[in-house]
Amino acid sequence: MKVNTPPMGWNTWNTFGDKINEELIRQTADVMVSSGLKDAGYEYLVIDDCWSLKERDAEGRLQADPEKFPSGMKAVADYVHSKGLKFGMYSCCGTLTCGQYPASYEHETVDAETFASWGVDFLKYDHCFKPQNEPSDMLYRKMGMALANSGRDILFSACSWGVNETHKWIKSTDADMWRSTGDIFDKWESVKQIYEQNKALQPYNGRGCFNDMDMLIVGMNGKGNVGLGGCTETEYRTHFSIWAMFASPLMIGCDIRSMDDATKNILMNKDVIAINQDENARQPYEIGSDLWVRLLANGDLAIMFVNAGDTARHMAISLRDVGLTRASHKTLKLTDMWSKEEFDMPNEIKVFNLEPHECKLLRGKIVDE
Ligand code: GAL
Repeated sequence: MKVNTPPMGWNTWNTFGDKINEELIRQTADVMVSSGLKDAGYEYLVIDDCWSLKERDAEGRLQADPEKFPSGMKAVADYVHSKGLKFGMYSCCGTLTCGQYPASYEHETVDAETFASWGVDFLKYDHCFKPQNEPSDMLYRKMGMALANSGRDILFSACSWGVNETHKWIKSTDADMWRSTGDIFDKWESVKQIYEQNKALQPYNGRGCFNDMDMLIVGMNGKGNVGLGGCTETEYRTHFSIWAMFASPLMIGCDIRSMDDATKNILMNKDVIAINQDENARQPYEIGSDLWVRLLANGDLAIMFVNAGDTARHMAISLRDVGLTRASHKTLKLTDMWSKEEFDMPNEIKVFNLEPHECKLLRGKIVDE
């Protein structure tokens, strides 16, 4: 399967960790539809680690924990599908998952078939408990091959945290997205670190195999499994803007059953999502430091300034920066993707004042001067 735009959805891990069950999944599926998230593009509902029993069954198959999922995974998948959503699950390339449940090492074929029989549409595949002498690339290739032969179209979401130079081999595994960095936590320093680490990985991103910067922390507000103090609204907006601009998958990690308005406004900002989902998924390029530009499918430019520092900063964009020299007789009409304000560039330059941790995400239309 090949994906043309970054996958969007929701995942249990950031908020719920091992505290998952079928009621949570059903309620979340309901809210994905009723809140408008599905209409905004979020379509995968993914159960992360800690869903199975600690032992395989007599035939060597993974089995759902009947206390957490008394109706069985097929029924859960059927419910998710009945809402018009797609269903995702989790395993790991090692002998155990990170939460120490059975994983798929030397069980790739049977597990891919089990997931297919349950109606799984998405598999997140982790990198814990990997036997030392087994190369990561071959372990991911084994699962990619098993999924491709499972009889079902299953999106392959690799999660090797960018280790062992993942970017060099990941496309050979048939992965549709790959975790480029380590785990996110619900605090600004984590967002900043993942942003910095992903700058150099942009050349490896694009259609068919997207750099996954990890699940979103927007709306967690310090609560839940990876909640560590939380972020301000400005920081959550910056986080969402960066993930959008860098064409990362957008997998929500907060409890959407209790989203406040600020969270909804961030997660369902259609203009920001449109940049993330741009059909050409072109590589962004950096001008100076922390000013990013990306050519969109309709000829517009997406422009992002990030002030990752702790003091206010003036940041400027000029026509020349983006290659619009005098000879073109063109200028940019800018629209702020958050405030919807519009700006001309009468002096061929526009300066913005950014507060600490603030981001400006603009769309620039190229028009006659
Ligand atoms: C980590 C992974 C997280 C989550 C967790 C589950 O390795 O990066 O996203 O899946 O394992 O134990």
